[in-house]
Amino acid sequence: MAAMNASLPPAPARAFASDNAAGAHPAVLQAVLEANEGHALAYGADRWTAEAQARFRDLFGPTTESFLTWNGTGANVMALGTMVQPGDAVVCSEWAHIAVDETGAPERCLGTKLLPQPTTTAKLVPEQLEHLAHLQGVQHHAQPGVVSITQSTELGTLYTPDEVAALCDTAHRMGMRVHLDGARIANATAALGGTVAALRAFTVDAGVDVVSFGGTKVGGLGGEAVVYLDPTLARRAQYVRKQVNQLPSKMRFVAAQFNALLHDQLWITLADHSNRMATRLYEATRTVPGVAYDAAPQVNSVFPLLPADAIAPLRDWCFFWDWDVSRNQVRWMTAWDTTEDDIDRFAAGVRAFVAG
Ligand SMILES: Cc1ncc(COP(=O)(O)O)c(C=O)c1O
Repeated sequence: MAAMNASLPPAPARAFASDNAAGAHPAVLQAVLEANEGHALAYGADRWTAEAQARFRDLFGPTTESFLTWNGTGANVMALGTMVQPGDAVVCSEWAHIAVDETGAPERCLGTKLLPQPTTTAKLVPEQLEHLAHLQGVQHHAQPGVVSITQSTELGTLYTPDEVAALCDTAHRMGMRVHLDGARIANATAALGGTVAALRAFTVDAGVDVVSFGGTKVGGLGGEAVVYLDPTLARRAQYVRKQVNQLPSKMRFVAAQFNALLHDQLWITLADHSNRMATRLYEATRTVPGVAYDAAPQVNSVFPLLPADAIAPLRDWCFFWDWDVSRNQVRWMTAWDTTEDDIDRFAAGVRAFVAG
């Protein structure tokens, strides 16, 4: 091992733990600094928030409404809180962040049951909604009232615009509303064409009602937005946001981050870079003996299967998280600031620790 390590380059400066392990983009920091001039009214009555709201209307359409929040879990809870009725359930994939990684926040805060559906791709299909029709109108069952999908998904997969549209058609026909968890909506937009039209194709045009729009994972310091594509659902939004502790007092600083990210499509440029780095990482490691992949990356994460005894030393050298321990599967995730040099060094480490 000592000889092997001697031939290794130093570990990459940026590891592959997650896109929220990355720092904030300099343009975001600059925008926050510029917003730090003097006093501004709190709770969103400031010019930076007005600008961010205008930018979201430019993205999604003039009748849409946006509300800034602190984080993604809170954005999801707020969004769902304005969509569910008493007695409702939220249908989601079994991989959904709301079901797996939010410590039961939607259930606790909203008193709403989740109905996670089995899927190997983290994507729902319309038939899964149709199978829930037998619950509807039966007083012993929580009523499927909202479908929540994630784009891009927790498994790094993507819904096509047609797939989202088919889900929305079925959901709406069954009297349900559709929420899209877009913590990585930038990565999805970049992968599906990299334009505002591409974003609209899988959101507004497809019939999604409410979007949680992520800023944190694409170069923000921290901040998300809940965007109501159906503005009738926004009627109680400001009250629900406060109730679920997501009303930023100094909102100008969250708004300034979005103003920087949404300027000149920086959010798409950064996500596109992150996606391309994942493809580079996949290409650089897929032929290494001992490394196996189920699929090529669609966005900014890869999920290799590794020999069990290589995982710990490789991780000690350059950190990443386990994914499915039963299969020795790990997750390597790239970020807006991952460099080609990071990838090349890491691939050299993979060759040394895995192929030995
Ligand atoms: C799919 C998805 N939704 C929402 C979130 C938001 O999480 P947080 O509350 O940590 O901002 C994340 C973060 O990992 C995520 O991956």
